[in-house]
Amino acid sequence: MEDIIVVEDLRKIYNKDILAVDGISFSVHRGEVFGFLGPNGAGKSTTIKILTTLLEKTSGRATIDGLDIDKDQAAVRRIIGYSSQEVGVDDDLTARENLLLQCSFHHIPKEKAIQRVEQLLETVKLQEAADRRLKTFSGGMRKRLDLASSLVSDPKVLILDEPTTGLDPQSRQDIWEYIAELNRQGMTIFLTTQYMEEADRLSDRLCIVDQGKIVAEGTPLELKARIGADIITLSVRSDDPEACETASTVIAKMEGVKEVGLCSVGISGDKGLTVMAHNGSAIIPQLVRLLDGIGVQIDQLTLSGPTLDEVFLKLTGRALNVVERKGAVKGRGWGKRGKRP
Ligand SMILES: Nc1ncnc2c1ncn2[C@@H]1O[C@H](COP(=O)(O)OP(=O)(O)OP(=O)(O)O)[C@@H](O)[C@H]1O
Ligand SMILES: [Mg+2]
Repeated sequence: MEDIIVVEDLRKIYNKDILAVDGISFSVHRGEVFGFLGPNGAGKSTTIKILTTLLEKTSGRATIDGLDIDKDQAAVRRIIGYSSQEVGVDDDLTARENLLLQCSFHHIPKEKAIQRVEQLLETVKLQEAADRRLKTFSGGMRKRLDLASSLVSDPKVLILDEPTTGLDPQSRQDIWEYIAELNRQGMTIFLTTQYMEEADRLSDRLCIVDQGKIVAEGTPLELKARIGADIITLSVRSDDPEACETASTVIAKMEGVKEVGLCSVGISGDKGLTVMAHNGSAIIPQLVRLLDGIGVQIDQLTLSGPTLDEVFLKLTGRALNVVERKGAVKGRGWGKRGKRP
């Protein structure tokens, strides 16, 4: 597959001492959605700002569609669309005015601009709100307009820095659909996210980044296969405040269990356990009997395949962040008592 973005040994040091991007190399294939998944401060925005020519790198090389980000800056800017992490639209203008302004930045002739803006308003379903000032817009509407702004020039490569951070689930879903549709139409998309679910759903391939480095790269399936285990999440009820700890020690000794960790489950934040096992469904009956035997009652139990969250955890030893997922597990982390594979 042909590469449209090629990054080699990219490094950025801010103020001579903050190493934000630590020699990363990766390439994005033409026509794919490529994800950059990582926690706060991983260096995602720094990488994006360098690729969009807004920030000077310290060292390394990068090309977009064969154009060098240093030597061919103006040409690079012409073929990319960029939506920054901070919403980049003007509050006092209406949605339509904002998009027309973007068109003028791109020197799009008036007639064509009017047409283009109509089309974009339709794409992000903002026709009805088109003449309202942005002051009155919700966060989700702003993000949709922001996405539309990055599309005015009909870019070859769309670069999105955390397109759904802070959005409610429905707005997030909408943005995911627009991104998938743009990609179906042939646009290459490079996006960063802190949400493993977003990276998993949208990316053909992705990098997991942490502290300025790429810690893993592959398709979501490839990365999850590295875990090679199922995840059982359970919340327990017991009069004994140490019940979870006791249970985790017992479970860790079970045949087929790779690791056990403590976590909180559900909105109530009930105490719970995450159990990584080679074959989750096979061990559930024994698990239930075992806990029953020590007087620990199970309130809720879910079985799932591994997520990118577990991949991140395994690679870095830290949880990615609070994520929404089935079973609503918060702040997962393997307890000290868990055994390592
Ligand atoms: N202008 C700057 N001057 C100095 N340090 C900076 C600057 N911008 C970012 N940094 C530092 O560089 C590192 C990487 O920051 P960056 O914004 O690229 O991370 P990020 O992955 O985008 O994080 P987030 O998910 O919070 O947006 C952080 O340690 C950050 O504090
Ligand atoms: Mg950022």
